Amino acid sequence: MADPISYVAQRMAVAFAKVGGSLADGIDTAVRQSDRADAQVNGSLALAKAMGATPRDIATKILEVAELKDICSSAEVAGPGFINLTFANDFLARELVVASTSEKLGVRKVTSPRRVVIDYSAPNVAKEMHVGHLRSTVIGDALVRMLMFVGNTVVRENHVGDWGTPFGMLIEHLVDLGETNAAEELSVGDLDSFYRGARKKFDGSEEFQIRARTRVVALQSGDAETLRLWKLLVAESTRYFQTIYETLGVLLQDTDVMGESAYNSLLPQVAQRLSDLGLLTNSDGADVVFPEGFTNRENQPLPLIIRKTDGGYNYATSDLACVIDRVERLDSSLLLYVVGAPQAQHLQMVAAVAKQAGWLQSPREMVHVAFGNVLGADRKMLKTRSGDTIKLDALLTEAVERAAAAVAEKNPELSADTRNEISRIVGIGAVKYADLSTDRIKDYTFDWERMLSFDGNTSPYLQYAHARICSIFRRANVERASVRKFSPTISHDAERELAMKVLQFDSALWDTIEKYSPHRLCTYLYDLASSFSSFYEQCSVLKADTDDQRSSRLMLCDLTARVMQAGLDVLGIEAPEQM
Ligand code: ARG
Repeated sequence: MADPISYVAQRMAVAFAKVGGSLADGIDTAVRQSDRADAQVNGSLALAKAMGATPRDIATKILEVAELKDICSSAEVAGPGFINLTFANDFLARELVVASTSEKLGVRKVTSPRRVVIDYSAPNVAKEMHVGHLRSTVIGDALVRMLMFVGNTVVRENHVGDWGTPFGMLIEHLVDLGETNAAEELSVGDLDSFYRGARKKFDGSEEFQIRARTRVVALQSGDAETLRLWKLLVAESTRYFQTIYETLGVLLQDTDVMGESAYNSLLPQVAQRLSDLGLLTNSDGADVVFPEGFTNRENQPLPLIIRKTDGGYNYATSDLACVIDRVERLDSSLLLYVVGAPQAQHLQMVAAVAKQAGWLQSPREMVHVAFGNVLGADRKMLKTRSGDTIKLDALLTEAVERAAAAVAEKNPELSADTRNEISRIVGIGAVKYADLSTDRIKDYTFDWERMLSFDGNTSPYLQYAHARICSIFRRANVERASVRKFSPTISHDAERELAMKVLQFDSALWDTIEKYSPHRLCTYLYDLASSFSSFYEQCSVLKADTDDQRSSRLMLCDLTARVMQAGLDVLGIEAPEQM
């Protein structure tokens, strides 16, 4: 632990207990950042109320018993009974060394590591990935990296939509086109035109509909030739998805695909187990479960359909099988679903049934990491000008092209190779960061200008701050590692400010993880970059007054760059050394 605020919070909790005894239980001893001092504690007011005493007296008592000498240079009662704290400069300096020499830059490891399954990306076979899948991919991947960073075991699962009735028509369309042509169309990512082609025939021809339906039956009964054709569709689509993942630089691999079809053999078991538990009811010919607490607008109980009237199983059934598999085979205690907000009710119902069936007992938990839409400039769902869904590979290519223009303008001296590499990093980073930096539950507007700007809360701004520090070391001709153990002297306000920010990496990352909300880490990194910027404006590094000051500042620069790089890295964004 290196964050001064969490340090004080710990000491405060002890002091509150000493003063209030059991009355201090449940009182918020949190230490907050403050404008007047470094930090402020407000809990003294609540404790005074609980004890029926005067707030200022209680605050004074707390300060009498609190051990803060080694941490604070001043601790005062203020206003109606707050406690204002100022950290001692040598304490900050000590903690900087702790962070700088620790493996994870001062970030606490998880106390009891969990096996976490993260369900993310999950595009559908023979369909273009839409921007919703982009969001799931980018947010999910950031969560994977963060949870691993603090020491959890993470299992990535890509719940690809690779099963269901549309496959009848898709396979028949494939047969019509001829396998080679179809494979060609799919592998270059023309998934939508393939899907539309199938759909058009299906809507226009009764004969095709009959073929499609017969094909579904053949597929479900495991007909070898049909399975071969189905596998072809799946393989070509996954190959295309994998190219997108590589361009995006996410961790997902072929081996992470755990599509809906992977649960097929479990589906009869799901129905059987639900029926054995007495949870399955027949409703209008379908086998359903009515989970407690779900009703429709007319206040009637809402069913989760397990087996349809035609005997086929459902999306919900495979999701239940999936819960069983994640709990019983993978022994996961935390199941994260990075899925768009419209599927909230579906996932809630699945969780409710799984709990009722005893498959998901606390402390195991299932969390829907929901997200909003990506909007265009017109505030409507992002589409191409002709109204089509945006092809992700085209979008990413455009990002890199636009970044190339921005990078060339910023730094015309770069060689062509370096510029290409940096443009890739900046372009892809910008798209990912734009997605990650807004509260995931909100919609966000896709805006090229904004996301590629070198100013404001953008990835280029953060990457630039990092590159700038790298260039300071290049100019100083100092090895970065050589300053890492240096015990700094903190004196200038801007130095202090930056030191405090750097030390908050721990709490910022943990706060982000606890809420599964990457935008919190983004806000922190943006603040860090801004603090660096004002530090660099006010404090000469290379032309410092003394050797000690120069080394102190270089140490602070290096640590800032490492925190920036590590922070961007857990967001899945690269940090180039020059820009
Ligand atoms: N393939 C689905 C879609 O495109 C998302 C699947 C999400 N994961 C899950 N376990 N249901 O909407």
